[in-house]
Amino acid sequence: MQCLFVGAGAVADQYAGALAGSPLSLAGVCDTDPERATALADRTGAAAFTDLETALADCDAALVVNLTSHGAHASVTRQCLDAGRHVYSEKPLALDGETAADLVALAERDGLGLACAPITPDCPAQRLAGRALADGRLGRVGLVYAHAHVGRVTDWHDRPDGFLRVGPLYDGGVYPLSALVSWFGPVETVRVADTLDTWPAREAQRPSAPSHVEATLAFADGPVARLTASFYAPHRSREFYGLEVHGDDGSLYVDDAGAMAVDRSSVSFGRVGREYTPMPPQTPVEAATHLDGVARFAAALADGRRPRATARRGAHVVAVCAAIERAGADGGPVSVADHGARADPVPRPVVRPNQGWPHRGGDGAATADPGATGSAIRLPPVGFGCSRYRGDGEYVDRVDSIAAALDAGYRLLDAAELYGNEHRIGGLLDAPGTPDRESLFLLGKVWNTNHEHVLEACRGSLDELGIDAFDCYTLHWPDAWAYQGPLDRLAERPVEEMEALVFPEDDDGERATADVSLAESWANLETVHERGLARTLGVCNVSLAQLRTICDAGTAPPAVVQVERHPYQPRTDLVRWCHRRGIRVIAHSPLSAPGLLAEPVLEAIAAERGWSPAEVVLAWNVTAGVVPIPSSTTAEHVVTNLAAGGLRLTDEERGRIETLEDTDFER
Ligand SMILES: NC(=O)c1ccc[n+]([C@@H]2O[C@H](COP(=O)([O-])OP(=O)(O)OC[C@H]3O[C@@H](n4cnc5c(N)ncnc54)[C@H](OP(=O)(O)O)[C@@H]3O)[C@@H](O)[C@H]2O)c1
Repeated sequence: MQCLFVGAGAVADQYAGALAGSPLSLAGVCDTDPERATALADRTGAAAFTDLETALADCDAALVVNLTSHGAHASVTRQCLDAGRHVYSEKPLALDGETAADLVALAERDGLGLACAPITPDCPAQRLAGRALADGRLGRVGLVYAHAHVGRVTDWHDRPDGFLRVGPLYDGGVYPLSALVSWFGPVETVRVADTLDTWPAREAQRPSAPSHVEATLAFADGPVARLTASFYAPHRSREFYGLEVHGDDGSLYVDDAGAMAVDRSSVSFGRVGREYTPMPPQTPVEAATHLDGVARFAAALADGRRPRATARRGAHVVAVCAAIERAGADGGPVSVADHGARADPVPRPVVRPNQGWPHRGGDGAATADPGATGSAIRLPPVGFGCSRYRGDGEYVDRVDSIAAALDAGYRLLDAAELYGNEHRIGGLLDAPGTPDRESLFLLGKVWNTNHEHVLEACRGSLDELGIDAFDCYTLHWPDAWAYQGPLDRLAERPVEEMEALVFPEDDDGERATADVSLAESWANLETVHERGLARTLGVCNVSLAQLRTICDAGTAPPAVVQVERHPYQPRTDLVRWCHRRGIRVIAHSPLSAPGLLAEPVLEAIAAERGWSPAEVVLAWNVTAGVVPIPSSTTAEHVVTNLAAGGLRLTDEERGRIETLEDTDFER
């Protein structure tokens, strides 16, 4: 779609920088300063204009991008709407709510699209934070601290006049305000506000609006927020655009409400009584560019839609700014019109298990799985292993690491009655700060001694966990052993007693088996689904031949197959077989094969990428559409393992890792 840029200053350069490779083309550039207009037009091959009326007459671009200075936005937008153009405006949409709302009404009347920056509420860090709020991590949110330290514009901007005229609210304040409105909906009242004119005497240019503003805002549906917007507190003060959101059950910290990129520490969650844990992104994310908002708007217009939601939010945000100024001058409270602003729809959950089983013909969410042809269930890219067993024969308590995993944003917990800690996990699931049940994927396993008592075992596990149903319930192993009674709370028993129970021996010291075929065990598992105690079923530690037996005997194939998988043992045939049938593969013990993390091939790729060998192994699984479930008791590993969900290997790197396959691997 062809665009006309109006305004050719610093921000226009940022928009123009992303034009190459975008679906947008620049037909014209208009700026009252002929030098700026010509410079940008020459660089982009567009026509230059110095007068908007002429530009609108001579350039038939359907979309105008308004990149003028703050005070000119509203009049330029109005002129362009009057000329029948769709408009994307830099923020603020106007300098007061009524003018901004009139622009929205004008666009609506004439069937035109009107959009407004910033796009940051849609950027990855803000979406991650929004998801955490929607998952109920914070419980009821009571309080927000929001900072907008725009800094001394006279220091860092080549033409600070526009900023100095409007003050820090309409520029920097817009970022935290837009994020908060996108999460909590509109502000109802400005309770109190205070303004300062503090400014260094030596500066030749002074702000004509207050240089520093503090206000307390009450959201219609949520917290009270204290907002500080300042030109006086220096640019990049410790809290630049930081947001602290405090709820009954925990706190969220977003280090930059105006960020277009995200990294591992952009968003952190602090459960009540625990330190903040970084919440890394779990999918590959590229930093957004300013032009992304225009490109999205143009795509919607091309689709026949006429978006105005960001403009309505922009109108409300400036109404809040104007109300803060009024409260600062005359005292509060001052009520604020919502101008149609609403909270954004909650981002789609990471976890969306099919509600029904058989999973054929389910919700078709096979997208995370590159090999899938059936309707595979949707799983998070990386899960957390809750086993207490460590390769060196030691048992560890996982409660703290499972809490850290939930805090970091893991959504898949791999549990089992064998691990003996379901009641401890249940305690955590019930604790303040844990995600709501529906945003978690809980996988359970029936132990080998319970193949004839699957229902009893499953009910016991559900009771311990305090949940109604598993998202997936699996056979821990295909082998059936002699029944030993219920296996509850194994973690509370002495190790010897526990091991005697779970590894039963006959009088000759051989394994005490049960005469139950794999087909029978699977049929017993199916009753768990029939009774509504598991949404999907699965099996662990199977060979391809055993998997075929289950598929032939059962009413439907498993939704999930869990096997030990790492570069020594890639299980390529099994993974391919499963993916062709829409069966998801989960890789257990992905990191603990002896010597694996010291393999030179992995170390080399790790060094080239700036990752750790563990991240390479996890990324190798994720790239293949397999979900690794590493366990860890080291807080830093818990976070970096989850972040590996956002890493992908190249074909060349995967080829190098293939050389590690060891067909004799055993442990
Ligand atoms: N279905 C089954 O039969 C079956 C069998 C085995 C396991 N599993 C499941 O798979 C899960 C994981 O398997 P696993 O417990 O055998 O171990 P694993 O995840 O393969 O490895 C855990 C070990 O790796 C270390 N580690 C973790 N992250 C690391 C990192 N980023 N860098 C370096 N070292 C790292 C851990 O040490 P730190 O604690 O110091 O991080 C720990 O020693 C289990 O918890 C269980 O849920 C299922």
